[in-house]
Amino acid sequence: MQTQARISIRPFSFPEDYKDVYTLWERSGDGIHLRRSDSPAEIEKKIARDPDLFLLAETADSVIGAVMGGFDGRRGMMYHLAVAPEYRRKGVANLLVDALEVRLKAKGCIRYYLLVTKDNEEAIRFYQARGWENMDDLYAFAKDLD
Ligand SMILES: CC(C)(COP(=O)(O)OP(=O)(O)OC[C@H]1O[C@@H](n2cnc3c(N)ncnc32)[C@H](O)[C@@H]1OP(=O)(O)O)[C@@H](O)C(=O)NCCC(=O)NCCS
Repeated sequence: MQTQARISIRPFSFPEDYKDVYTLWERSGDGIHLRRSDSPAEIEKKIARDPDLFLLAETADSVIGAVMGGFDGRRGMMYHLAVAPEYRRKGVANLLVDALEVRLKAKGCIRYYLLVTKDNEEAIRFYQARGWENMDDLYAFAKDLD
């Protein structure tokens, strides 16, 4: 389905957009795991770096999608891609990820990663449709530092 012309993409602003985006994530279902990294203090820390990679999709009156990107000089990351349930299958995620990829490439990023839970079929279908490869020969490891 075609993207509606009245949807625009712009960078996230802290603190103005925080509440709307957090509400969007809360409404997005089990695919978005909200953790301490999503607290206001942690989001403020995140956008001190790569502020131009945290993008929102909005209509004239509300935030309907968001994606948070990062680039560490070698690899990029994509976090918390979400579209409001009533706006899905209209190309909004494609619009957000297209915009993120333009920005990542402009920074010199040649490869980027994401994590998705194995039961998140909608998101997996979306990523497959965009040409992502499942690195199923790898484990994803994580460690808390405090
Ligand atoms: C995954 C998600 C972001 C996709 O957003 P979206 O705006 O609906 O995606 P798009 O409309 O841009 O979809 C583009 C293409 O991806 C594929 N796709 C997207 N959702 C799909 C679904 N539910 N089933 C099958 N294919 C799907 C299709 O090929 C689609 O093109 P088409 O509609 O022309 O067939 C959305 O379902 C979502 O917010 N999910 C909950 C949050 C989440 O789990 N995020 C991922 C965290 S890892």
